[in-house]
Amino acid sequence: MSSHPPLLDLVADDLILVEAKMQATNEVFQPLAEAINLLLHSGGKRIRPSLALLAGRLYAAAERDRVVSLAAAVEMLHSATLVHDDVIDGALLRRGKATLNAAWSPGATILAGDYIFARAASFAAETDNVRVMRIFSETLMTICDGELRQLYAMGNWHQPRDAYYERIYGKTAALFASATESAAVLGNAPEAEIAALRDYGYKVGMAFQIMDDILDFVGDASTVGKPVGNDLRQGTVTLPVFHYMQDNPEALAVMEATSNGHAGADPLGELIADIRRSPAIEATRQEAVQFIADAKALLAGWPDSIYRQALEQVADYVVARTF
Ligand code: IPE
Ligand code: IPE
Ligand code: MG
Ligand code: MG
Repeated sequence: MSSHPPLLDLVADDLILVEAKMQATNEVFQPLAEAINLLLHSGGKRIRPSLALLAGRLYAAAERDRVVSLAAAVEMLHSATLVHDDVIDGALLRRGKATLNAAWSPGATILAGDYIFARAASFAAETDNVRVMRIFSETLMTICDGELRQLYAMGNWHQPRDAYYERIYGKTAALFASATESAAVLGNAPEAEIAALRDYGYKVGMAFQIMDDILDFVGDASTVGKPVGNDLRQGTVTLPVFHYMQDNPEALAVMEATSNGHAGADPLGELIADIRRSPAIEATRQEAVQFIADAKALLAGWPDSIYRQALEQVADYVVARTF
């Protein structure tokens, strides 16, 4: 069902430059360099830098070197958030491989993540565009804000659904939005087009995180390459849960019992299995499909081109992916 969008071939050469740029060189403290290069070679999908590169191609004025720097900044920022996220979630598997925190102490892992954040910032500076640098730093603030909101909402079974959308904007969609927005900025696009490309990235990013949250219920760890079934166990309420609770309000009692310590053998395990089999999964997927339809509709403002088509294909891929 899922494969990489074929039109990504259009930016394959640029992606090679992005990879080369991100590699840690010999001057870097060796264990850190090894950790970074292991992470970079572990097989990420590179969806965010691909979006930046493709959006840049819509504009002849977008200089290749600068867009490549932007794409590297975006992927490096993403990598750093993963390093920190796995510490926060206590996850030992990522992209089918052991996480850094599986081998390193939490303190050392956080420092490695900080280093990768700083490297991302230096790539953002290489775009030589103050507006892009501002977008970059604001995005990093928004991501931290989103992850903190998620931490504070853990185990809160009564939260409004809007809190979910706010969180996933912060932790995921904001970076997608910045990737396409910044590419348009580098292309000297008119303000309305910059805003529309930001909105396209936002919508693709929202759909992306919704699908990730579905995969946490229906995926298996070997395909997804990271632990599954953990979100609810950790007290994180995601969209499938909101849909399920709408039809099964009695599920609330099961969740409350787990926080009260009154739970039986594995009530959450049963609940997770019920959610997996329920119509809540398809209802959730429909929300992602709608975000993607809206994202693609935004692209109608551009003349038809292979790059616009590729952006449409990447959007479609997000709701078709199985990992
Ligand atoms: C994982 O992102 C974190 C989320 C925002 C869900 P990806 O699924 O893009 O991770 P990689 O880079 O392809 O491993
Ligand atoms: C993490 O969200 C998003 C980040 C910005 C790191 P998740 O916790 O759902 O991501 P995975 O499932 O660990 O990749
Ligand atoms: Mg996680
Ligand atoms: Mg997840």
